[in-house]
Amino acid sequence: MVSIGENLLIVNDAAALVWRLRHYMAEHSEVALITDENLNRQVLTHLPTIAGLFPLDGVFVVKPGEVSKSITQTEQLCLSLMKRGFDRHSLIVNLGGGVVTDLGGFVASVLKRGVAHLNIPTTLMAMVDASVGGKTAVNLGHAKNQVGTFHEPVEVVIWPGFLKWLPERELLSGFAECVKHGLLQGGNHIKMISKGLPDDQNRLASLIEWSVRFKASVVCADPFEKDSRKMLNLGHTAGHAFEALSMSCTTPWLHGEAIAAGLLVALQLSVRLAHLDSSFASYWEKFLLTNFNFPPFEGIDADQVVRMVSFDKKNVGRSARFVLLKGPGVPVLDQAVPDDDLFNAVRNVMRLIHGL
Ligand SMILES: NC(=O)c1ccc[n+]([C@@H]2O[C@H](COP(=O)([O-])OP(=O)(O)OC[C@H]3O[C@@H](n4cnc5c(N)ncnc54)[C@H](O)[C@@H]3O)[C@@H](O)[C@H]2O)c1
Ligand SMILES: [Zn+2]
Repeated sequence: MVSIGENLLIVNDAAALVWRLRHYMAEHSEVALITDENLNRQVLTHLPTIAGLFPLDGVFVVKPGEVSKSITQTEQLCLSLMKRGFDRHSLIVNLGGGVVTDLGGFVASVLKRGVAHLNIPTTLMAMVDASVGGKTAVNLGHAKNQVGTFHEPVEVVIWPGFLKWLPERELLSGFAECVKHGLLQGGNHIKMISKGLPDDQNRLASLIEWSVRFKASVVCADPFEKDSRKMLNLGHTAGHAFEALSMSCTTPWLHGEAIAAGLLVALQLSVRLAHLDSSFASYWEKFLLTNFNFPPFEGIDADQVVRMVSFDKKNVGRSARFVLLKGPGVPVLDQAVPDDDLFNAVRNVMRLIHGL
């Protein structure tokens, strides 16, 4: 068992997770579990000691995917929890990927002006990123994360064992955030990432520890993203545009796939605008292209991506603002990026990915 800071724990087995859950259940008047259909059907059936802790009418199973990050789903959950007699001493346990931790965290932050929640992330994405740092959100229409809060969970308990049920494509999606963390921290972290996604459990657990430790340290220094926490948006400005545009494609991109493409754009821009060493950038460009798969991007061109970036909520005034890298572990925040440079970087990346 590894304790990282005050409210983040990595456990080695399901028994330790059950022990932690029992501890929190004893401390709260009412406890409810929020999870999704895939986890309920494919994972919790193998873990009767975890599922058995919750009474049947205290388990709320939402549909998998972004569709559940909605105001409607929030209202339904709040009504159900009210019916169960939830008060300010109750606890919501979110067991799932980033969708469940974002949604359940949001519900916890608004119900009765805030009840406690415990995050148990089950995807690599949620373990190293979504469940940590207190950001919660739901979507408005097709626009992602438009309504949200900062609400810290009482604890995040990570059991890497959940990943044995996770599809490979989802695992790789989470690995994109690990690459981002490695680039932002540099040193031994980036060396570890350069070996690729580990195929054995011990190395995977160690990668999770490095990655989540780094995220927790950045959040701790700037919990409300006034300044240094913005570095975690590396790869996300262009990444969000790829993600949103791919929604109309036959295979919409996963968040991490879009972030891997966004990191490619950020590397190109960093060489041009932040003096990043070009051989370092080429190494990581090759790494991203060989380690990630990018589904086809039918009918979308670089112009559309650039236009979508200008809608990004992180832009101030009219010029696109990016997090770039000066070197490994040396981010540059709020770098203004002229449209021409952005267009060229996006076009190059689309050529590299799909030969477009
Ligand atoms: N709050 C934050 O700081 C933050 C950071 C990063 C991402 N996010 C959000 O997280 C979401 C993406 O998270 P995600 O990638 O975990 O997606 P997700 O929650 O949709 O999970 C991916 C898929 O894997 C399934 N699944 C989850 N755990 C499983 C397991 N152990 N075995 C088998 N199947 C499993 C889910 O049912 C789902 O179909 C996005 O909505 C994104 O906006 C939030
Ligand atoms: Zn992300």
